[in-house]
Amino acid sequence: MTQDEMKLAVAQAAVEYIQPKLARDSIVGVGTGSTANFFIDELAKIKHIFEGAVASSEATAERLKGHGINVFDMNSVDQMDVYVDGADEFDGRLNLVKGGGGALTREKIVADVAKEFVCIVDESKKVDLLGLFPLPVEVIPMARSQVARELVKLDCMPVYREGFVTDNGNVILDLHGLEVEEPKELETRINNIVGVVTNGLFARRGANVILMGTPNGVETIK
Ligand code: A5P
Repeated sequence: MTQDEMKLAVAQAAVEYIQPKLARDSIVGVGTGSTANFFIDELAKIKHIFEGAVASSEATAERLKGHGINVFDMNSVDQMDVYVDGADEFDGRLNLVKGGGGALTREKIVADVAKEFVCIVDESKKVDLLGLFPLPVEVIPMARSQVARELVKLDCMPVYREGFVTDNGNVILDLHGLEVEEPKELETRINNIVGVVTNGLFARRGANVILMGTPNGVETIK
């Protein structure tokens, strides 16, 4: 099975998983990335059974609209049953690293509103200790150098993602060389640096369930 076939399989499994939870007025939170794109294409097949979606990025909004799915502004939605998104890494405690595509802040906002976060990944994303994938940090542009100096104190190497601007008009520093022993504490510590918008650790609000694609089928991890 190729990686894309595994992504398609988890996207289909996610639609099967959420379908019984959806009502006519349900709003689905939708993530960003290549796995989320497979999910959007599958979700479109059941668009008649729910109200619409909230997108975690401009790219996702465009893809949803392209399928004729209603896209709602986050501020007009006060409750959401489910959020479905990929991840760049996950550990055995369902903590995640996200933001490889740079959409981490909006992803975190939508995930925070949802009752359930369903994470869809292929098995290559599983790690014992988070940090192998460089941890993205979204930063207000004028604070970039000062935030980088603060981040170096965490024994890592911040690398400016040159030429990339987030949907919120900010920049990304990718932290190389981290070994994340305490994900919740590190998530809070980085977010407390002045000038940081948020970081890609999803530990305080990790996944509730992970659907992991393997060559032998989809595994459910809770
Ligand atoms: C987007 O900012 C990310 O958080 C993605 O959800 C994550 O990078 C997973 O992307 P893929 O499904 O493309 O691996």
